[in-house]
Amino acid sequence: MGKPKLVALTGAGISVESGLSTFRDAGGYWDNYRVEDVATPEGLARNPEMVLNFYNGLRAKLADIKPNDGHKALVRLEQYFDVYVVTQNVDNLHEQAGSRNVVHLHGELTKVRSIANENLIYDIGYKPIKMGDKAEDGQQLRPHIVFFGEGVPEMERAIPLAEQADVFVVIGTSLNVYPAAGLLRYTRREIPKFIIDPKMVPYPTDENYTFIQKSAGEGGRILEQKLKELYKLGD
Ligand code: APR
Repeated sequence: MGKPKLVALTGAGISVESGLSTFRDAGGYWDNYRVEDVATPEGLARNPEMVLNFYNGLRAKLADIKPNDGHKALVRLEQYFDVYVVTQNVDNLHEQAGSRNVVHLHGELTKVRSIANENLIYDIGYKPIKMGDKAEDGQQLRPHIVFFGEGVPEMERAIPLAEQADVFVVIGTSLNVYPAAGLLRYTRREIPKFIIDPKMVPYPTDENYTFIQKSAGEGGRILEQKLKELYKLGD
């Protein structure tokens, strides 16, 4: 019998204490950039240089930031649970913290792909890409990021994880964006569920949710405590 399965759906909020902005809080990315300019296929077609530079800027930031207690709480829980992180974030902070099972629903900043073939993916770390940088098919490289209006193929991996979860945790997401936010609907009704967010977010009130109205770092520590009590885990 393996360990109980804990599935965590995370969003931009879990990376705030590492110094990254969210998208929809005051001062967030969508306050400073138009989604249609930097996060849609039309925007990429209209002004590829600006889009490449937007993500080059975000990618360069990754070199200077570190995981915080929120990311680390999920790693510590791996001693008691099989932990699967399903993240909407394109940063690599879960991996930097040591999480072994991470599904990126919206892509990854450290990866780029052929504009003509989404299976030609290259890991470029924190380096920039520019117009004229080509994939092996001779086509321009673009960020391996899911733009609005594009498919979210990783949901195929995330849905079975949510269905099999024994514990479900939501950390740092406004649950505004689908299909990611729809993942809550695939969890079994009776399992324990937790939401960690300093602000109130909408969630199904007819299910077994505990709302921890704290930041990811402090909320992560409270979550650990609550799970230790619930599962009678040693110290
Ligand atoms: N700790 C935990 N949560 C926090 C913190 C913090 N320190 N600070 C803010 N939050 C919460 C906010 O209250 C909000 O509920 O994080 C959430 C961030 O919500 P959004 O900015 O909407 O980010 P997210 O939900 O990840 O957006 C989903 O939208 O633009 C697209 O692709 C992009 O993946 C992104 C998706």
